[in-house]
Amino acid sequence: MGEIKLKKDTLIVSETNDKGIIIYANEEFCKISGYSKDELIGQDNNIVRHPDMPKETSLELWNAIQAGEIWNGIVKNKTKNGDFYWLNATAYSSLDAKGNKRYISIRIKPTDKEIKNAILLYGLSE
Ligand SMILES: Cc1cc2nc3c(=O)[nH]c(=O)nc-3n(C[C@H](O)[C@H](O)[C@H](O)COP(=O)(O)O)c2cc1C
Repeated sequence: MGEIKLKKDTLIVSETNDKGIIIYANEEFCKISGYSKDELIGQDNNIVRHPDMPKETSLELWNAIQAGEIWNGIVKNKTKNGDFYWLNATAYSSLDAKGNKRYISIRIKPTDKEIKNAILLYGLSE
């Protein structure tokens, strides 16, 4: 399946509740993932998970954000029709107005070098 490249100025934003269920997705996230807002909201994050992503990376992400740290990494996601796209993702935890924990992720276009490094790091072939 083919690679979809982000535009330079695209911001992919989503929020989950404390259980990793998507509670917010911006237009750009819907557009690139191929899902409507209704299809994304209420789903587990791993609806966009690509099987090439190592388990350790998501473990690191969850350990970091649950410890109150800001996590940054290069992530490969799968679209609804099976294409893929690379993201430079930043995630962190926050509290909503009612004091409930939520998680926020903002992703931008990675550089070619960041993608190359991730392919090596995750043991993938180009
Ligand atoms: C706010 C937020 C956004 C996330 N976005 C993604 C994402 O775009 N792609 C991804 O593979 N995992 C993302 N994750 C991690 C997933 O929750 C999950 O850990 C990952 O898909 C691996 O699935 P698994 O934990 O069921 O193995 C995100 C987590 C949080 C808290």
